[in-house]
Amino acid sequence: MQKTMALHNRIWILFVTGVLLAFSLMICTSGIVKAESEETDGEKTLVVYYSATGHTETIANEIAETLNADLFQLIPTEPYSDADLDWTDENSRVCYEHEHPEDRAVELEETAVDGWESYSTVFIGYPIWWGNASWVLDGFIAANDFTGKTVVPFCTSSSSGLGESGELLAEAAGTGDWLEGKRFPSSAEADEVAEWVSSLALPAGDTEEVTEQVSEETAENTDGIATAE
Ligand SMILES: Cc1cc2nc3c(=O)[nH]c(=O)nc-3n(C[C@H](O)[C@H](O)[C@H](O)COP(=O)(O)O)c2cc1C
Repeated sequence: MQKTMALHNRIWILFVTGVLLAFSLMICTSGIVKAESEETDGEKTLVVYYSATGHTETIANEIAETLNADLFQLIPTEPYSDADLDWTDENSRVCYEHEHPEDRAVELEETAVDGWESYSTVFIGYPIWWGNASWVLDGFIAANDFTGKTVVPFCTSSSSGLGESGELLAEAAGTGDWLEGKRFPSSAEADEVAEWVSSLALPAGDTEEVTEQVSEETAENTDGIATAE
């Protein structure tokens, strides 16, 4: 009799485990379908950035990770060395270019993005140089048509604010729906970036995904998983 009870218990446990397994598989599968349908909606996001010393790059990576977006790094054909970037030396390359706007045209390795038409949202990131967007971006802005795109400027700086940097880029572009943008300190934290992204009025597909990502991130942070530098 006891043996029969034990057998019944085992069968019952196996049955409950099976039901739970099938239920979790259903949840996973529906997640995958949703991700696929979002992609076919065409709401793709691109994060374009220039970063001389890596701070803006960190933010760009966080945005791309949060939104599952693509990245496009602007690389000058002649990169800036540490000496080139020394704004305290009046003979440095940046000081010369700052003083001579007519000699500022920085050639970029690439300004054409594969599948540019497929991106509905484009983030544009840059370091602040002398209170404004680094002029390294200028060639990219001039070479591309932002018509029909939501454009979101972001920058890093030691202390200066966003200032007019976003507005001036929008003016130079002449096309696109430019949002106000955001300045981050050089060492911003990952959750600050994710929270900002989630607060933006992005096209529906992007916003849904951000909300999911931010709640995941909040859960991760309570577990004590480290944030970016
Ligand atoms: C040429 C130059 C000019 C700068 N001008 C400013 C400025 O006006 N205000 C400010 O707060 N930081 C200024 N900075 C500091 C950078 O904006 C800051 O370190 C930024 O996070 C660098 O980003 P990156 O590492 O992506 O290049 C300047 C840095 C350089 C190299």
